[in-house]
Amino acid sequence: MNLSFELNGKAAGLEIEPRETLAEVLRARCRLTGVKLSCEAQVCGSCTVLVDGLPVSACTFLAYEVRGRRVTTIEGLADESGRLHPLQQAFLDNFSFQCGFCTPGMILAAKALLDEKPDVTDAEIISHMDGNLCRCTGYLPIVKAIRQASLEMRGLK
Ligand code: FES
Ligand code: FES
Repeated sequence: MNLSFELNGKAAGLEIEPRETLAEVLRARCRLTGVKLSCEAQVCGSCTVLVDGLPVSACTFLAYEVRGRRVTTIEGLADESGRLHPLQQAFLDNFSFQCGFCTPGMILAAKALLDEKPDVTDAEIISHMDGNLCRCTGYLPIVKAIRQASLEMRGLK
């Protein structure tokens, strides 16, 4: 079947199998390997991407469901000049990753949160991020990075 959608701000059109997941299509056909696959059971959050601005687990989301919709992956966050999104920069500044496997999903989940509620508390960050697992960094630097990005995105830092 033909799939037309918006991918990282550009029109995309592909032939896909109806059974293919969004993660499979993004990784194998679109070469967007920032979409990470780990549990493949909607448990870890590594495969998180945004569909119409909301986080979904791409490992269990069928690709055809994005027809006519807007998909954002980590590759689409920097601006056209290559300047990193404040969340990407904050993760670097706060050493909020080690292996980095969970990081794209973490950043995209956090973006959805800050887009909806820029003035976020630590408790809200922790609650919102509980579907994204990190196996090596520990969560405090991740919360710190999201807090920093929240301040920067509101012009307070
Ligand atoms: S790989 Fe999709 S939630 Fe773990
Ligand atoms: S940085 Fe390694 S899993 Fe999170």
